[in-house]
Amino acid sequence: STVHVLNGPNLNLLGTREPGIYGAATLADIEALCLEEGRRHGFDIVFRQTNSEGGLVDLIQAARGARGIVLNAAAYTHTSVALRDAVAAVGVPMIEVHLSNVFAREDFRHHSFLSPVARGVICGFGPQSYALAIAAFARLPAAP
Ligand code: DQA
Repeated sequence: STVHVLNGPNLNLLGTREPGIYGAATLADIEALCLEEGRRHGFDIVFRQTNSEGGLVDLIQAARGARGIVLNAAAYTHTSVALRDAVAAVGVPMIEVHLSNVFAREDFRHHSFLSPVARGVICGFGPQSYALAIAAFARLPAAP
């Protein structure tokens, strides 16, 4: 089965973007980590990034029928009703991830429009947040 790992705005800049917060790993490094974790659990991984909100809606819709979605919607987490509605519409279990511990940061990062439609949330573990989310899908029963 397939797990879609979807990344939002500015995550293409990882490695150079605020390394004190987000670390030195690039998005390509995180993709490699996800592919390795997927192999460990027998999942095919679809790994995508877009800077646009509508692009993320399209990627969520394209994940219909998948085993799960790992979603780092970046700043759209804190702003987007459209992404929340897309997740609710496709009915694929979604795990919300963040590299940083958003609760240790500014107040505006403490609210997520996505958490209410997430199966769970993992934040603060850097790139390992993604690997933990993929491992979580392996431990959850697949939908009938
Ligand atoms: C982020 C946290 C968000 O608040 C921020 O806007 C990001 C990245 C994270 O992975 O830590 O762009 O989702």
